Amino acid sequence: MKRDAVTLTDHRTGKSYDIDLADGAIPAIQLRQVKVSEDDFGLMTYDPAFQNTAACKSRITFIDGDKGILRYRGYPIEDLAEYSNFLEVSYLLVEEELPSKAQLEEWKREITSHTEVPEAIGKLCAAFPRDAHPMGILVSLLAALATAYPDARTVTCANSRRLQIMRLLGKVPVIGAYALRQITGQPIVEPDKNLSYTGNFLKMAFATGGAGHGRETFTPNPVLERALDTLFVLHADHEQNCSTSAMRNIGSSQADPFASMAGAAAALWGPLHGGANEAVLRMLGEIGSKDRIPEFIERVKAGETRLMGFGHRVYKNYDPRAKIIKQLADEVFDIQGVNPLLEIALELERIALSDDYFVTRKLYPNVDFYSGLIYQSMGFPVDFFPVLFAIGRAPGWLAQWNELMGDGEQKIARPRQLYLGEGVRGYDARG
Ligand code: CMC
Repeated sequence: MKRDAVTLTDHRTGKSYDIDLADGAIPAIQLRQVKVSEDDFGLMTYDPAFQNTAACKSRITFIDGDKGILRYRGYPIEDLAEYSNFLEVSYLLVEEELPSKAQLEEWKREITSHTEVPEAIGKLCAAFPRDAHPMGILVSLLAALATAYPDARTVTCANSRRLQIMRLLGKVPVIGAYALRQITGQPIVEPDKNLSYTGNFLKMAFATGGAGHGRETFTPNPVLERALDTLFVLHADHEQNCSTSAMRNIGSSQADPFASMAGAAAALWGPLHGGANEAVLRMLGEIGSKDRIPEFIERVKAGETRLMGFGHRVYKNYDPRAKIIKQLADEVFDIQGVNPLLEIALELERIALSDDYFVTRKLYPNVDFYSGLIYQSMGFPVDFFPVLFAIGRAPGWLAQWNELMGDGEQKIARPRQLYLGEGVRGYDARG
């Protein structure tokens, strides 16, 4: 009978070790037995940026990067984008199964009951200058929410975790909208419980006329509401990406989920991750016209800059989310008019996909390449785009955090290092 194991030979000592695999992977701790001498610490793996290291076991999201497959709890992203909606997908991620109609109603009712935000958070938001980056505001408000809910620190209690998940799902779009109103110099709009999750967010973002006293009238355009909701579905989870890993890392110290999510949002902000949607729009603006694309591509190939919205650590094929977003863009442009930068984006994609540099490196458009064009057409400012990503990613962060906290195998995240610095030195004061 075949054994689920590998044999490793240490040529320094001539010894061989049989290492049993766990769920098809090498348990790295087993390498500790590979020693040159008894006082040797044992072998470690070296994997900067975790390119080939599974840090957890998960049942939430499956990606096959070579085939361009993405599934949440087994459901293909294409089906969820077409037939489901963001609240249902949030339920699926957190509660593991799709809800019945009644369960979904209750889910919505519960989340809606948590849309209120403490007054101090509104005041804190109002203290930010108009030119503050909205992701800086979001990160701060998320961290500040931890001070309002000290009970959230009981992270080992499953019931408490569920309450915090509902609170965060209720409040994230609300504080996101607060950040938008602050940078656009408009008064806060209170949540409207009669609207859908995404419809309410659109109202809080764009309603005018009531000076923030709840008298604003706003009816979301159903096509735009559905398009934004679908964008949230597409962003809802992506297994162990940078921000989710940050959420898990921080969560592993038993920090409360508001603080952990502030850390996750900070990780998302970077232009190589969720900040890429903003960076794409700036890049398209800088290119300015189709005739300047070849010159830009040459600069990318020379290593002077990156083609933002292209490439992915896991996808070595077209990002399935980008395919759906490209179709979605047409629906939005039919209503809002075509974003003039679309022409440049399409031509960039055409040239890149036929250029050896991108083909050999398997660089394809990712989720951020076209999403910004839609957000801009909907009227969101460019630096707000990563906040939209964060609203979409919130259920994924929370589902992953909850899975971590319920996983008996997990301990505090604490990687090792290869120390390459000085050995012990005698202290000699410099004159
Ligand atoms: N433009 C030009 N060259 C690129 C790009 C790009 N966008 N992406 C990767 N490369 C090259 C890179 O220079 C390297 O070439 P070489 O082998 O000659 O040194 C090769 O492709 C492999 O790149 P890498 O940096 O080792 O790949 P990675 O897995 O560490 O990075 C990435 C993945 C997403 C950070 C990277 O592709 C990138 O910087 N893309 C642009 C930013 C972006 O769009 N980010 C959004 C990612 S998807 C959504 C999300 O996570 O939020």
